[in-house]
Amino acid sequence: MNQSILRDTFRELIGSLNLPNPATVLDLPSGLGSMVKVFRECFRDLKAEFTCVDLDSAALEVAKTELAGEIINYVPGDVQNLRLLDSSFDLVMFANAIHNIPDKLKSLEEAFRVTKPGGFLYGITTFTKESMPEETFQFYQKATALGVRKLRELGVAREHGQERIEFLSIDAYNKLLEQTGWCGVVMKTLWRDVYLDVWQAIAKDRDYSSGVLRGYPAEQAARALPEATKEALKLTGFTDSSGEKYIPRLWMYFRSQKPVAI
Ligand SMILES: C[S@@+](CC[C@H](N)C(=O)[O-])C[C@H]1O[C@@H](n2cnc3c(N)ncnc32)[C@H](O)[C@@H]1O
Repeated sequence: MNQSILRDTFRELIGSLNLPNPATVLDLPSGLGSMVKVFRECFRDLKAEFTCVDLDSAALEVAKTELAGEIINYVPGDVQNLRLLDSSFDLVMFANAIHNIPDKLKSLEEAFRVTKPGGFLYGITTFTKESMPEETFQFYQKATALGVRKLRELGVAREHGQERIEFLSIDAYNKLLEQTGWCGVVMKTLWRDVYLDVWQAIAKDRDYSSGVLRGYPAEQAARALPEATKEALKLTGFTDSSGEKYIPRLWMYFRSQKPVAI
C-alpha cells in the first residue's frame, strides 16, 4: 500500500542497528507480509527467522505464498494476547495497525513482553489526530458521502451502528510507549503528498474502507470506496505543478527499545 514509506522509515530507524545474526523478528499484524519484504530489502545478508501474527487466517495464507523462501512461523491470533513466549524477539515490527487495535496499551505490553531485553520495536501509522489537516477534511467527507451514495444505489444496507474509532495524538502514543516500559523512544513524523495510485490501494484495504464507510459490510465498502475516493480527489484534491491531484498526509513512526536490565 505505502511500501516506499514503510521502506524509507524502517531504513531510517532500524537500518543502522546491529541486529544479531541470525535475528528473530516478529511481524504484528503481518497482513500480506509487507513488513517481512521491507526487512529483507533492508537487511539482505542477515539470517532471520520471522513470526507472522494476524487475526485473519486468509491473510496469513496469502503471506505464505508471498514470502516463500523465508523461514516463517505463521501464528493466527490477536496482537492484544500473543500466544508467544516472553523475551523471544530481537525486533518487533508493528505497521499500519495500532490505530485499529481497541486496547493499544495491551498490544504494546504484549510486544514488550515478547521482545528480548535490548531488542527493538518499530511502529508506523498514518491514523493519528495530526494525520489529516483541516484543509483536507473536505476530501474525506466527499469520499465518504460518495461511497455511501454508491452503496445505497446498490441496495447495500448498514449492518450496525456508527461506532467510531478515536485516533490518538502523537503525544498520546509517546506516553503509551513510555507507560509500557519501552525506553529510548524515537518518535518521528513524515508528510507525504498522496496521489491517486496510493489512494486507490488504500481505499481497497478492508480495514480502511470499513473505517470510512462505518457500519457497511467490509467487502462491499472495499469495493465502493476506490471509485468514491478517485472522484473525491478529482473534486477536492490539491493540484501540483504538473496538474496531478494529491492530498497531503502525515505518517507517525517510531522506534523504541526494551531495557537490557528490567
Ligand atoms: C492494514 S493491515 C497491515 C498489515 C501489515 N502490517 C502491513 O503494514 O502491510 C492490518 C492487519 O491487521 C489485522 N488485525 C486487525 N486487528 C488485529 C488484531 N487485534 N490482532 C491481530 N491482527 C489484527 C488485520 O487482519 C489486517 O491484516
